[in-house]
Amino acid sequence: MGFRAQADQYVARIEGFLDRALPQPEVAPARLHEAMRYSILGGGKRIRPLLVYAAGEALGVAPDLLDAPAAAIELLHAFSLVHDDLPAMDNDDLRRGRPTTHRAFDEATAILAADAMQPLAFQILATHPPLRDRPDIQVRLVALLAEACGSTGMTGGQAMDLESEGKRLDAATLEHIYRLKTGCLLRASVLAAAVCADGLSVEAHHDLERFTDALGLAFQIRDDIMDIEGTTAETGKTGGSDLANLKATYPFLFGMDDAKKRADDLLDQAFAALDRFGTAAEGLRWAARFIVLRRRD
Ligand code: IPE
Ligand code: IPE
Ligand code: MG
Ligand code: MG
Ligand code: MG
Repeated sequence: MGFRAQADQYVARIEGFLDRALPQPEVAPARLHEAMRYSILGGGKRIRPLLVYAAGEALGVAPDLLDAPAAAIELLHAFSLVHDDLPAMDNDDLRRGRPTTHRAFDEATAILAADAMQPLAFQILATHPPLRDRPDIQVRLVALLAEACGSTGMTGGQAMDLESEGKRLDAATLEHIYRLKTGCLLRASVLAAAVCADGLSVEAHHDLERFTDALGLAFQIRDDIMDIEGTTAETGKTGGSDLANLKATYPFLFGMDDAKKRADDLLDQAFAALDRFGTAAEGLRWAARFIVLRRRD
């Protein structure tokens, strides 16, 4: 089976898992649970879970071990998006083709829904049965995801993104922000599978880090390009948000041609980093094309 069909199965798998892991909408406090379910189950490309499972294929890790980290990372991602869209941050009204959570509910409910998704991620890591007899893996996954999400990871990157509005940054500084706000969760997705793998060499681990580093940067540059060139039908978001917020983005600071060239070069670097894994990394190559080029072939 090509990875495209496999990818569809993994998406269905993680959506089913998330559906079961989230409190039912009628459980009190119902409005909070409705908002959590709205934020998580309302579409999205699921690229982070796909990376977890694709990395698992490359490293020979059974998907049963990967469901919990894949779900946890998707919860942390959804938490970051709900906060990212708030008026105090990017002030966006549309996400995944629907009103953002604070628009569909209200700001307080959106903040609390995101607040609750974060601990749920760690609860799943701590309690999902296939990991229960592997406390060594559980602890390393908790540390990996906490670091990826915290003040030296995604949250720190979001703080720097806000501080940089209206500023002319150099490329190294901008890429540092991208590495934190976006790259850290993609990195954690791939390294979560590495945590579950037996006997991974230092060299292979290093190559996976090179892969995610290039991929994370390329992905955020593509996202910035699509904020300018993409249609709402393609992105599910309102275009022009970055310009309205005077965001420091690659196309804005260095021009569209350079942004596209940088994204292409980074994708090549990502592919090159996978050489040692041979055909086992076909899923990761598919995921990289999907993430950066939005191709599904
Ligand atoms: C959007 O992430 C936020 C960025 C890091 C650019 P995605 O493009 O993965 O969002 P969904 O989950 O598919 O909606
Ligand atoms: C978001 O970057 C990174 C996050 C950690 C959420 P953006 O602000 O560009 O993401 P979108 O375009 O709103 O999805
Ligand atoms: Mg943002
Ligand atoms: Mg945003
Ligand atoms: Mg964006």
